[in-house]
Amino acid sequence: MAQKVTLQSSFGLVLLAISIFVSVAGGLEKSFASVPPLFSNGSSIMVTTSSQGAFDGPKLSIVNNSSFDWWYFDICSEEASVQIVFITSTVSAIGHPESSVPLVTYVTLNGLFPNGTAFAYVVPSMSVYIATEGDGSSGFYDGFGSWKGTPDMSYYTISVDSEAIGVKGALYFQSAAPARYPLQFAAERAGSTEVLAPNFGWANAVPDSDAQAHLSIGGTKLHIVGRGYHDKNWGDAPMQDTTKTWYWGHAKVGPYAIVWFDYISRDGQEYYSAYLTKNGAPVILGSSMTVRPYGRNETQRLYPPNPSSTEPDGFIINIDAGNAGKFEFTASNDNVVQAIDVYTRWTGQVTGGPVGGEQFYGPGVGLWEWMRFIS
Ligand SMILES: *[C@@H]1O[C@H](CO)[C@@H](O)[C@H](O)[C@H]1NC(C)=O
Ligand SMILES: *[C@@H]1O[C@H](CO)[C@@H](O)[C@H](O)[C@H]1NC(C)=O
Ligand SMILES: *[C@@H]1O[C@H](CO)[C@@H](O)[C@H](O)[C@H]1NC(C)=O
Ligand SMILES: *[C@@H]1O[C@H](CO)[C@@H](O)[C@H](O)[C@H]1NC(C)=O
Ligand SMILES: *[C@@H]1O[C@H](CO)[C@@H](O)[C@H](O)[C@H]1NC(C)=O
Repeated sequence: MAQKVTLQSSFGLVLLAISIFVSVAGGLEKSFASVPPLFSNGSSIMVTTSSQGAFDGPKLSIVNNSSFDWWYFDICSEEASVQIVFITSTVSAIGHPESSVPLVTYVTLNGLFPNGTAFAYVVPSMSVYIATEGDGSSGFYDGFGSWKGTPDMSYYTISVDSEAIGVKGALYFQSAAPARYPLQFAAERAGSTEVLAPNFGWANAVPDSDAQAHLSIGGTKLHIVGRGYHDKNWGDAPMQDTTKTWYWGHAKVGPYAIVWFDYISRDGQEYYSAYLTKNGAPVILGSSMTVRPYGRNETQRLYPPNPSSTEPDGFIINIDAGNAGKFEFTASNDNVVQAIDVYTRWTGQVTGGPVGGEQFYGPGVGLWEWMRFIS
């Protein structure tokens, strides 16, 4: 493990690296890995606790035909949104077997222009490198672009320059809320579990940030000033084999930043993780929450969702913050950002606050999704 390499900003210098190198320089642990574009055969061992490396680093020993690991970023405002996912997974391991991407290394870029028109791109990449320094990660996907995080995860940038899809520009994330695992803050560290549910990991480097996107998409300029978010998920079994459904999302409502994840495993067990900060300071992190769909039709409100469920009008998020009281937020599905067979993503207004206390109606903006393998 203690192989020494000098990390330069140019990824080209280490083109031949095919395994993870780890070094310690200037007190910060660094690592560098190249991810082969085709899946490997063998056992994919996943990270399960915080003692196993960088917070935002790769979480699999290898990517095999049933494991997955991705870095997710989004920025949203009331007018527009963009989501970028740097993926290392076969399409079948994340429940999209109908998709034709032949590589495990690809990027998805989605979003909404202010006029309500959606855009969607998939960019396979033959050369992928992931580096870590301290807890932050950086990645390079040839043919699409790269991301770079600071060692303390307080600042991330993404740079896109893809001739293949005609997209160019940059995204900036200045963190405004502390990083956390499902049940513990990154700063607490010692032996924190990174597992939200069996075979499913979650590390949320940037739960909320002041963010900007400046992109040129097929010649059209897209400028967003809003809230940004970054996390990563991973697993060592195909998602559709272990997951029945989940509601995930993030939002900024008045002084509150919230992140919700309400997950039901294939065997019907519910797992939660609620996150709430006020003016950037933690209020609660843990499992006492519910996220429930609402809508006029009964089929929109079904919980747990089943094959006759239809898309709700929004979600009600209840958080029990113990001594800090109870909170309720309503996320209204105003805009469909992305809709495929297994999930729908929305942006919209989020309102709420402490139950019986001051309610915040704006500015409230967020991005959320309903994932399901229930048909
Ligand atoms: C993995 O195994 C499959 C089936 O035996 C084979 O086609 C493929 O070439 C192997 N991949 C690697 C990277 O060895
Ligand atoms: C991938 O690795 C996991 C974890 O060891 C294992 O359960 C699974 O069978 C492997 N998948 C393949 C296709 O080899
Ligand atoms: C990978 O797994 C999928 C889903 O289980 C299967 O259909 C496919 O044949 C596998 N690919 C290879 C090359 O083994
Ligand atoms: C919205 O803007 C995009 C980008 O300029 C354009 O391609 C699309 O046609 C527009 N849609 C509508 C409904 O005007
Ligand atoms: C609500 O139910 C009506 C009548 O069954 C149906 O036409 C409509 O599509 C449903 N809407 C949603 C969002 O489920």
